[in-house]
Amino acid sequence: MPGFELWSDKERRELQDVLENGILMRYGFDGMRKGIWKSKELEDAICKTFGCTYAQLTSSGTSALTTALTALGIGYSDEVILPCFTFVASFEAVISVGAVPVLVDIDDTLTLNPEAVRKAITPKTKCVIPVHMCGSMADMNALVSICKEYNLLLLEDACQSIGASYKGKFLGTIGDAGTFSFDPVKTITCGEGGAVLTNKGDIHIKCDGYSDHGHDHKGGADRGADQHPFIGYNYRISELHAAVGLAQIKRLDSFLAIQKKNHTALKNILSQVPEISFRRIPDPAGDSCTFLSWFLPTEEAAMAVVNEMKAQGILAGNFYWYDNNWHYIRKWDHLKNAISVNHLSPSLKEQIIHHANNDFSVSDAIMSRCVSTAISLLWTDEQIKEKGEKMVAIIKKVISGQTIPA
Ligand SMILES: Cc1ncc(COP(=O)(O)O)c(C=O)c1O
Repeated sequence: MPGFELWSDKERRELQDVLENGILMRYGFDGMRKGIWKSKELEDAICKTFGCTYAQLTSSGTSALTTALTALGIGYSDEVILPCFTFVASFEAVISVGAVPVLVDIDDTLTLNPEAVRKAITPKTKCVIPVHMCGSMADMNALVSICKEYNLLLLEDACQSIGASYKGKFLGTIGDAGTFSFDPVKTITCGEGGAVLTNKGDIHIKCDGYSDHGHDHKGGADRGADQHPFIGYNYRISELHAAVGLAQIKRLDSFLAIQKKNHTALKNILSQVPEISFRRIPDPAGDSCTFLSWFLPTEEAAMAVVNEMKAQGILAGNFYWYDNNWHYIRKWDHLKNAISVNHLSPSLKEQIIHHANNDFSVSDAIMSRCVSTAISLLWTDEQIKEKGEKMVAIIKKVISGQTIPA
């Protein structure tokens, strides 16, 4: 997820505009800012690039999720279904609005298993969050139809999949709302930042106000004259961050093209090993190719490959999520025990603990065999060849010394 890898004069120039006029806030200061509105420009560019009607920038992907959930009306005691393989931000946002995260199994797409979603639906379910992990997508046709059938809201967490699409529509624009993260390791970055995308005017108005203390932004140049139709929060992005994002969004197509080229080259090399299988991609043409995710036949083989890659100094950039503290339920003891710095309501605490301690053995069987290789924009063809061949040698060595089930 490489926006930071190709830092250039383009980012420096956009930043310079803001540094020169000295207006770092996205709202107000109309006279002094000499027509420079980087955040508004970036929101327009997001709508144009991804084909959505509205975009609301926020301070992070996490605050974009919180803002979107709030705007969708999710709150006290509502259940929100999401996958057990994600980043902690997804369930943090659900808890932050007072709702209950109901984690369910993934499948070989590494995203929500539609059947697991169906089984988890109760009268309290309000929303489903597919998390489009590692640059690729959930089975959106299946999830859209479940949400229609049960009258549930659909919020796409597309934080890791900017520029990926499903059957011709960009991820983040298919559900009632979608979120992007522009943190330092995402496909395009602002340094820190996020966005809520939606085609629904009422949801957008709520995102716009909620992320800025409830301002209705109708007071013109006088922010003090704005009304506050509801209680909000400060999840604003700054003009400095938006300036970086504006340069990066203009470069997105070129980033994606390099990513796809490098992904294909590495996949061709790894495909030489018949025992390796690859993540199922519901719409291969829409993969943004930030990662190549592959499976070993067994957990033992995966662990041995990871250990050998570490021993040979080539593990960097390869992620064994099963052992990672931040992305998979297995290591989320804080969630399983609902440990919070502030007081959660007793019923919320009880529900969090209940759902986080479900049986995730189906997902364990997938995640324990999965390695995701991050695709760099900086690799040369020679480096891909060298990297791929080293990986193949390690995998073959491990497999030849293991008993692989038929
Ligand atoms: C799937 C997912 N959702 C949400 C986030 C949160 O984004 P941010 O780091 O901008 O808060 C991330 C960040 O890694 C993520 O991977």
